[in-house]
Amino acid sequence: MPAGASSSKAVPVAGPDRSRAQDPDPPHRPVRPRPPVATLAGLGSALPRRVLTNHDLERMVETSDEWIVERTGIRERRLAAPDEASSDLAAAAARRALADAGLGPENIDALIVATVTPDSPLPSTACLVQKALGTRRVAAFDLAAACTGFIYGLAVAEGLIAAGRHETILVVGVETLSRVTDYRDRTTCVLFGDAAGAAVVRPARSPGRGLLSVYLGADGNGGGSLYIPAGGSRLPASTATVAGRLHYVHMNGQEVFRFAVGALALSVRRSLEAAGLGVKDMDLLVPHQANLRIIDAAARLLRVDPERVFHTIENYGNISSASIPVSLDEARRRGRLRPGDTVVLVGFGGGMTYGGAVLVWDGPEEADDH
Ligand code: COA
Repeated sequence: MPAGASSSKAVPVAGPDRSRAQDPDPPHRPVRPRPPVATLAGLGSALPRRVLTNHDLERMVETSDEWIVERTGIRERRLAAPDEASSDLAAAAARRALADAGLGPENIDALIVATVTPDSPLPSTACLVQKALGTRRVAAFDLAAACTGFIYGLAVAEGLIAAGRHETILVVGVETLSRVTDYRDRTTCVLFGDAAGAAVVRPARSPGRGLLSVYLGADGNGGGSLYIPAGGSRLPASTATVAGRLHYVHMNGQEVFRFAVGALALSVRRSLEAAGLGVKDMDLLVPHQANLRIIDAAARLLRVDPERVFHTIENYGNISSASIPVSLDEARRRGRLRPGDTVVLVGFGGGMTYGGAVLVWDGPEEADDH
């Protein structure tokens, strides 16, 4: 590790509150399965060109390709160009999702961008994407649920459609995590990458196909395990926060790991249950891609055959809210999604947040590669 490097520093925010028992499986309101009201009518993703390999990282911090692959499954990740912000990636992914759905920006009724790395605190990235796409003056807002952001976005879009307020909603998960990653901290810098994934959410079009259920959860007591200490109202930016490297992601990897395995398994079970289904009914699991060991451990807990679990982490690392839509898009392009397949999307991340969605795929079988 270079001189002055440190893996984590004492920072003035509360860590996880261990005084309160965290029930990993809290009581939940039983949900009766119901016909889908919404579906994903188009998918698109945008990945920056620049590739940062494990070998590149070997030259930046004291690490090795072998350690990273064995402990995380990651081989390389993509990094945004210096002039490429979250809204640029989000708009590119959104255009592809719209083209995939056979729609144009004029058809968008509402725009939701899930991100923890907005272009700036004000205005929202969603408004910047709206401007870039040239949509009408429709609702546009950001949503902060970290790596579960896309699932939360789907839940909001589904609710807006169910209420009859909007018809064509763009849900984007985008991150430029390289902007908040400390490339002197080997415990975090090997994990993260940049990307955007988008979906066009529309009213369900064929019986029994579309979003069967969405399940959401959060445990604020765990917030101190994964956070960016400065830059908000608690600790505004100052020369001291910059010198203290407090604008970067700080993480207790082992705590997050333990939480993630349980949250992933719980979210799969709960979202399937809400759809009136069980693990055996699932054709494909598309989990948030944080660490291959987390995915494997949860799959073992659920007794899911590894063949039914899709991953992209090898090539993109952890791209937070972009992880699920990018993986879903890639699963479809690799021919892993067929009409009628039951797919479970599942996320977990900072907050801590977690959640899952059950989707019966009714989109086109394959999309053109881009
Ligand atoms: N290269 C080489 N060694 C490293 C390293 C790196 N990049 N990062 C940490 N190490 C070292 C540690 O310093 C430690 O050394 P020590 O035993 O001499 O103290 C050793 O490897 C083991 O560290 P540990 O933290 O126990 O490793 P781990 O198996 O838990 O893996 C993570 C670390 C971060 C990969 C893992 O905990 C993880 O993925 N956690 C979840 C993170 C996550 O998903 N975050 C986002 C959630 S959305």
